[in-house]
Amino acid sequence: MKINRVYFKCISCGKEYDINEVRYRCDCGDLLDVVYEFDTSSIDPEYWKKVFRERRLTNNKYDLSGVWRYREFLQFIDIEKDLDKIVTMPEGNTNVFDAPKSAKYAGLNRLFLKHQGLNPTGSFKDNGMTTGTTMAKKLGFNRVACASTGNTSASMSAYASRAGMLPIVFIPGGKQIAYGKLSQALDYGALTLRINGDFDDAMKLVERVSVELGIYLLNSINPFRLEGQKTIIIELLDQLDWNVPDYIVVPGGNLGNNSSFGKALQELYNLGFIDKLPKVVVVQAEGANPLYRYFQEGKKEFKPVKAYTRATAIKIGNPVSWKKSVRTIEFTNGIVEQVTEEEIAFAKAIIGRDGIGCEPASATTVAGIKKLVEKGIIDKDAFVVGILTGNLLKDPDYTVEFHTNNFYIHSYYEKNYVIREGKIDTSKMANQPVDVEANIESIKKVIYEYEKKFLG
Ligand code: F0G
Repeated sequence: MKINRVYFKCISCGKEYDINEVRYRCDCGDLLDVVYEFDTSSIDPEYWKKVFRERRLTNNKYDLSGVWRYREFLQFIDIEKDLDKIVTMPEGNTNVFDAPKSAKYAGLNRLFLKHQGLNPTGSFKDNGMTTGTTMAKKLGFNRVACASTGNTSASMSAYASRAGMLPIVFIPGGKQIAYGKLSQALDYGALTLRINGDFDDAMKLVERVSVELGIYLLNSINPFRLEGQKTIIIELLDQLDWNVPDYIVVPGGNLGNNSSFGKALQELYNLGFIDKLPKVVVVQAEGANPLYRYFQEGKKEFKPVKAYTRATAIKIGNPVSWKKSVRTIEFTNGIVEQVTEEEIAFAKAIIGRDGIGCEPASATTVAGIKKLVEKGIIDKDAFVVGILTGNLLKDPDYTVEFHTNNFYIHSYYEKNYVIREGKIDTSKMANQPVDVEANIESIKKVIYEYEKKFLG
């Protein structure tokens, strides 16, 4: 798949820039896309689908990566000459699970869940961080930075450390980041700056500090991050033998991921890899729902909100990529939905019962699907794929509180005290640990009782 040209293009005014220029925005202030001018005469989609499949059989580390296997869609580096510059773990290769209990819960006959939490650092961020850090290396940076609700910082820290660059992460202070994620940033050697503020404050600061100190910024405002995340869709379609789902459902926070999905679908469609489009459904938490509100209010004015949700990954009120996200929804004729804290918590527990498990933000997918089926928007026979974005182990506190029926909708630090408000009764799904005397008879009794309940 030859390209004639690759360049940055402003999503708003269309101004073009060299991709080797370090910039994250157009002079007009808006976001940039990486645009490839493909030599369409050289493209035979059926041939390339076969090549992608065959690459799975090799031990070449670039082919083993579920991102770089599709490198023809990532030609911001010279994929013939510069493969050795790639920073890879390798990432991607995440399973698509059949999830019967989640399907039944959501009211569908069948539901598939692609689990990006099975990536090397446990979230979909690795798909974009391999491309982001590769570009950082190509441009000669030795320091990279991001603001994060946790997963971006975990991922960037791992990839930067592997590539010999210093990771600098800006995270919100207080109880706003899950411990699994914080522990990763610390262990992977990041300079970890806890900001006295929320993610939106951290995001503003990191953009300024990066520009002023010449540090490479690896938030999803960086277009090369989104290039890598495109492969979530490409790999999914490859795994589905290129049968296109009716709906692809994904959580929305900073709104980068669904933006990259839209870009992937546009490229695949324009190049003839697919001849229909899935509707992309973005699901936000009710307390962090600026995109949902924007659509509800007739797309008049995008208004940031002061965000709150216990799904801390998506506790974002002023998402950077909202315009790209709107483009995805419009291009795919998609939907934006919102779900409550309670809906997220119960959806997460049912995904767990399918033996899959995920972090809270990911469960917005199943909660959102259930809502849209109930509203009669998604048909029970529809072909639906939910994208689980992060691993269950990222946020163990949330899961244990749920299963011990000790779950509060509000849980945050104030002057070093944990404030909990709004208890919800989780007993109908809670799976409590059982305290038992250390003798055989007591243990047998507990097992018999549990079995009776479990087997009905
Ligand atoms: N799910 C998880 C597990 C996430 O970590 C994030 C974002 C999202 C969903 C939302 O994706 O921002 O592309 O719309 N986490 C970022 C972070 C913001 O800093 O880790 P989005």
